[in-house]
Amino acid sequence: MSNGGATNTDGEAPEAKRARYARLGEAQLAGARGFGKLILFGEHFVVYKVPALVGAVAAYTDCDCAFTGGAGLEVVDNRPAVPGYKAEKKAEADEAIGLVLKHFGVDPAARGVRLTFGGDLTAVSGIGASAAQVVSLARALGQALPRALTEDEVNAAGYEGERGYHGTPSGIDNTAATFGGVLRFCRTDGAPRFDKKKLKAPIRIVYASTGITASTSKVVADVRAKRDADPAWFDGLLKKYVALHGRGEAALDAGDLAALGACLDENHALCQELTVSCEELDALVDAARAAGAIGAKMSGTGRGGLMIALTPTAEIQATVKAALEKLAPQVWTTFLA
Ligand code: MEV
Repeated sequence: MSNGGATNTDGEAPEAKRARYARLGEAQLAGARGFGKLILFGEHFVVYKVPALVGAVAAYTDCDCAFTGGAGLEVVDNRPAVPGYKAEKKAEADEAIGLVLKHFGVDPAARGVRLTFGGDLTAVSGIGASAAQVVSLARALGQALPRALTEDEVNAAGYEGERGYHGTPSGIDNTAATFGGVLRFCRTDGAPRFDKKKLKAPIRIVYASTGITASTSKVVADVRAKRDADPAWFDGLLKKYVALHGRGEAALDAGDLAALGACLDENHALCQELTVSCEELDALVDAARAAGAIGAKMSGTGRGGLMIALTPTAEIQATVKAALEKLAPQVWTTFLA
């Protein structure tokens, strides 16, 4: 497994983490991780089978799966999370976990299971926390059953879980959670197509939360309803997005950060037109640009959740982080690599 090379600024309570690692060993938990992700280009559009670009962050969720010898499912969720996230997502998380267990033919009524989730990925809308969780679960089940799983099998199990969080996922989040790195991803009628990008240099990012937990299933369904109501409007946006993605990917490949930043700005404007941005995201995007970011956009589901800012130097990254900390409840720095 590779990862995005990020700096993690927070994590599971140190005593809880130490105890788990002492019991299980570093190697086992390291083998049961799912990474968080940030979408550079194409949230929502990607659902309609056009390419997107996504970068995994190094922060991860890990999972320890133990068969208890009794019956029933016990879930211990030690993941760090923004306030309200876990309560808001509880029903979806329960369904997602149930779907992954079913995918592996595990019935907790017949064979008791205890799952312990941890790691240093803060669960927040937009970071792909649900995908990181179900991918880590798939890997942990592979260890516990035991069953040797290919990365594609882990990814497929993660996709099953993602269906619990939101009915028709594109698969971009679980693919990033499984494979790490920066990926060009495209949903198809069959298996997704994705390639790992080779970056000229790691990309320095600041990301910040609005503090609002969004429902991916509701926002994706609302976009679909708007598309059905006005197909010409949606097709116009989709065409603009596809052209933009081509320019954004070329800028990424060339290591042209100024052009990449301009494309991120354009993608934010398309998200606004698609009505998936919101006042809080727009305010953070504006503040990041004013503080020196060379591009900024919402990232992920939107209508809350996260925004990202492209910050080419350590100095700009620190300035943008400080500016966002005045407005946002949580701010992180990372590298995409
Ligand atoms: C969520 O991280 C990304 C969306 O495009 C949904 C999906 O692709 O499944 C909003």
